[in-house]
Amino acid sequence: CQDSRINEIKSKIRVVPNFPKPGIMFQDITTLLLDPKAFKNTIDLFVERYKGKNISVVAGIEARGFIFGPPIALAIGAKFVPLRKPRKLPGDVISEKYVLEYGTDCLEMHIGAVELGERALVVDDLIATGGTIGAAIKLLERTGAEVVECACVIEVPDLKACLLDVDLPFRHYVMTE
Ligand code: PRP
Repeated sequence: CQDSRINEIKSKIRVVPNFPKPGIMFQDITTLLLDPKAFKNTIDLFVERYKGKNISVVAGIEARGFIFGPPIALAIGAKFVPLRKPRKLPGDVISEKYVLEYGTDCLEMHIGAVELGERALVVDDLIATGGTIGAAIKLLERTGAEVVECACVIEVPDLKACLLDVDLPFRHYVMTE
């Protein structure tokens, strides 16, 4: 049976039709952040799942993975590593391109932030096609880290995955599923 906290979390996520463009139902987590109890429950549920799993790295995906990732990292005693959009990080980086519905984008990570053999958790607010999380996994695995799981608050099981023909072969957990 589902944790009663999850229904409350779901109810706090605002759905905005036709944003940022026609046809998109935007899942807005800023309304969840306005409710300290629901926001804390979101973090707590992730922490309960990952505490004691010997995870040393929480990697957050820009931008909303930077909201959920750090409190999880602090609570489970892991370091936080930001995975950023291009040309934001000042040090030497490794990059991984991924396919969007129209065009491509890229994630970057500082070289040396993650070491061989570390156990990593990837955090983002939302998974749609899985392209973004796929790039995050590749970045971490290129450093020799093991990606234990990818954690998201929301999944959008929409047409994009079919359009892009992207598989979701990796282990991921969606809180509100
Ligand atoms: C959104 C979301 C995820 C990604 C998921 O970010 O926060 O990172 O899309 O989509 P996917 O599973 O199809 O790859 P967005 O690309 O809008 O970037 P932003 O957070 O910088 O606005």
